[in-house]
Amino acid sequence: MLPEQQSQQTRALCQLAPVIPVLVVGDVAHAEGLATALVKGGLPVLEVTLRTSVALDVIREMAKVPGGHVGAGTVLTPDDAKRAKEAGASFAVSPGFTDRLAHACEDIGLPLLPGAVTASEVMRAMELGYSMLKFFPAEAAGGAKSLKSLLGPLPQVSFCPTGGVTPQNASEYLALPNVLCVGGSWVVSDVHLADKDWGAVEALARQACALA
Ligand code: 3PG
Repeated sequence: MLPEQQSQQTRALCQLAPVIPVLVVGDVAHAEGLATALVKGGLPVLEVTLRTSVALDVIREMAKVPGGHVGAGTVLTPDDAKRAKEAGASFAVSPGFTDRLAHACEDIGLPLLPGAVTASEVMRAMELGYSMLKFFPAEAAGGAKSLKSLLGPLPQVSFCPTGGVTPQNASEYLALPNVLCVGGSWVVSDVHLADKDWGAVEALARQACALA
C-alpha cells in the first residue's frame, strides 16, 4: 500500500472523532468492555500501545468490537508492524519515522500514522508520500503554537497531536485547520480500568467528543 493511500486511510480515521484514546492495557479481560464503552461514548478509533505483554491479544479482542477501528501504537520496528497487522490492527501509529518502518507498512499494507515535529521531519515524510502525521510529543514540542507555525509553509499536511494533550488544551489544537484530531491517554484512567468502570469511561468518551 503506497504511503499516499496509507495517509488517505489514516486521514479518514482521524476525521471520525476529535479524540483518539491512547490505551495502555495490561489485562486482556479489559479489552472488550473498554473498547465497547469507548465506541458507545462516540470514540470509535482506538490506539492500543504495544507497551504491555498482552497488547497484541488486546488488539485481537478489541478488533472484534462492532463499530471500532483498532490500531497499534508505539510501533517502532517492521516486526512490531507485522505482529500488529496479524493481530488485526487496522492502522499503526509510531512516535517517529524511519525508512524501515515505512517500507514494512508499505509491504504488508498497514496504514501508518508516523510521528514528525520539525519542518524537516515533516518534509521528509511528505517526500515519501505521507500527508497525515502524528505530532509528537505535542506539548513539549511547542504545542498548538508550533503546529500553527507549520501551517503557513506546509498547509498540505494534517496532524494528530499527541503527548501532553488534555481536556484543557485539546480545543486549542482542534481549532487549527491542520489538526484533524488529537490523541491522548486521559480518557481512560488506571482507576477506571482496575474497577472495570465502563460507565465512567463512556462518560469521559462523551466529554472528549464534545471537545470538537
Ligand atoms: C503516548 O504515546 O504515550 C501518547 O503520546 C500519549 O501521551 P499522553 O499520555 O500525554 O496523552
